[in-house]
Amino acid sequence: MRILGIESSCDETGVALIDSKQGLLAHALYSQVAEHAEYGGVVPELASRDHVRKLMPLIREVIATAKASPGDIDAVSYTAGPGLVGALLVGAMAARAIAWSWGVPAIPIHHMEGHLLAPMLEDPRPEFPFLALLVSGGHTMLVHVEAVGRYTVLGESLDDAVGEAFDKTAKLLGLGYPGGPALASLAEQGSPDRFAFPRPMTDRPGLDFSFSGLKTYALNTMEKLDGGAQDKADVARAFEQAVVETLLIKCRRALRETGLRRLVVAGGVGANKRLREGLQSMVRKEKAEVFFPRMEFCTDNGAMIALAGLIRYEAGARGEATFAVRPRWSLEELREPA
Ligand code: KG4
Ligand code: ZN
Repeated sequence: MRILGIESSCDETGVALIDSKQGLLAHALYSQVAEHAEYGGVVPELASRDHVRKLMPLIREVIATAKASPGDIDAVSYTAGPGLVGALLVGAMAARAIAWSWGVPAIPIHHMEGHLLAPMLEDPRPEFPFLALLVSGGHTMLVHVEAVGRYTVLGESLDDAVGEAFDKTAKLLGLGYPGGPALASLAEQGSPDRFAFPRPMTDRPGLDFSFSGLKTYALNTMEKLDGGAQDKADVARAFEQAVVETLLIKCRRALRETGLRRLVVAGGVGANKRLREGLQSMVRKEKAEVFFPRMEFCTDNGAMIALAGLIRYEAGARGEATFAVRPRWSLEELREPA
């Protein structure tokens, strides 16, 4: 069985072809980061136009690289939400038109389901059930995953998502967009002992998060300093450390409360080195295991959408005759595939 997956929910155009026996056959990604950098964030209209330009060439490239032909492909899966409405529409229209012309089903996929299944592209593959930590630019969630389509959100951010907090703090340190990776590399030159940032919401029960206060804390700290290179690096280090430790505390709490022994990490912030190291040592002490997607599949990509499409198709999903993209769409509305 072969599924073509298409991702276009934000500023990355991703396409991949996956085979049920051979795994990932080919994947390609076009990142629009450079186009949006001068505006300091994603401009939705520019994102939609760029998806229009890049999607068909990427699809041709993936099919050619895999030496596949349309006749071998059993379904097309695409990100139907959540995300930017114009960007989603480009991927949905293309996926459905291609699927129609090939006479195969078009399967809508929830973007966050794609992220949380992404570690299953790797070997060893985590088995159900597991705890998932989803940390991206738009979401911060702890999810109890019983099976595909059976998700319970145990906690989420009440304000900024982790990636968003990284991006906003990076901006106030004068770093470019997207700020997460830039802040993380600046933090490597910073001292871990100079500033003690708070660990928000860790002193009370529950699994929700709040990150907007850390950004304000960073701003207030900066205002008291000259703002030299070392000051910035030290603030970056203290900020990163506070975020990582807060996530560690909540993940450990969720493992203990649910009794789950597998933790899966996904989303762009999952690429953060200190977070990866911290989680590795936390799970070792908890006698649990942690699974990450490879770096390039932490951020948005087509492979995770192809995989989610494959899993759903194998379980009987065949898409619907009508369709709508869902810019806002809760993970908990999903059901197990038919
Ligand atoms: O999952 P993703 O590619 O897109 C969304 O669906 O949001 O996540 C992007 C986010 C951005 O906020 C980016 O700054 C952050 O992930 N990010 C990082 C790192 N790499 C990407 N944050 C911290 N450290 C990193 N190494
Ligand atoms: Zn994403």
